[in-house]
Amino acid sequence: MTIGIIGAMDEELEILLKEMKMERKENKAQMVFNLGSLNDKNVVIVRCGIGKVNAAICTQILVDDFKVDAIINVGVAGGIGKDVLPGDIVIADSLVEHDMDATAFGDKVGQIPRMDTFDFKCDPKLVEIANKVCKSFENQKAHIGRIATGDQFVADIEKIKWLSSEFDAYACEMEGGSIAHTAYLNKIPFVVIRSISDNANNGAHMDYEKFLPIAIKNSSTILNNMISLL
Ligand code: ADE
Repeated sequence: MTIGIIGAMDEELEILLKEMKMERKENKAQMVFNLGSLNDKNVVIVRCGIGKVNAAICTQILVDDFKVDAIINVGVAGGIGKDVLPGDIVIADSLVEHDMDATAFGDKVGQIPRMDTFDFKCDPKLVEIANKVCKSFENQKAHIGRIATGDQFVADIEKIKWLSSEFDAYACEMEGGSIAHTAYLNKIPFVVIRSISDNANNGAHMDYEKFLPIAIKNSSTILNNMISLL
C-alpha cells in the first residue's frame, strides 16, 4: 500500500519530509515527488503548489505514475464560525468547490454542471482514523465537517458568512476540493486534514503569519500518527 501525501506549500511538508525515510525523488510537472517511508508505510510526499489546478495535476500524477492507494491532503485553512479557531483541526468529511458557479443554468452554486455529485465525500475510514488520532491528543480540538475550496485567500467576513450559510463549511482553503474531485474521478480513497491558521476575516493575512507554524505542527503531528494506523 502506498499513500500519497499532498501539501500546497513547502512549509506545510517540512516536518514530514524531515521525518520520512527518503528513497528517491522524481520531478514531474515542476513538482518534486519524494518517495520513501514514514512510520514504515510507503509514502509519496509532494508539494503541489497553491490553487486548484496545481492540486488536481499533482493528484492525477500520484494516481497515474506512482499508483497510490490513498491520498491525504494536509495543511492549513481559514476557520469558519466562532468555534473553529487557530490551532484547531478540521477533518473534512466532504468538500465543495465554492467558486464553481453555473447558477445561470439553474445549478446550485458549487455544483459542477453535469457531474453526478454535489460534494466529494472523504473515505469514512480515513476520517475515523484521523478523528481517533486527534482524540488521543488531549489538547487538540478537532471538528469533522465540510471544507470549501476555491482559488481565493478568503479575508472577508461577508464571504465567510456566505460559505457557512451556502455550504455549511467549517473551513476554507485552496486545494482540498480539487484533490477530492480528482481522487473521486479515479475512485481513490482520500481525506483532507487541515489545521486552522486564521479566521478568514479582515485580519486573516496577519493571523495567518502568526499561527502558521503552530497550525503546521498540528496537522503534521496528526498525519504522522495517522500513518501508523493505516
Ligand atoms: N488557507 C489558510 N487560510 C486561508 C484563507 N483564509 N483562505 C483560503 N485559504 C487559506
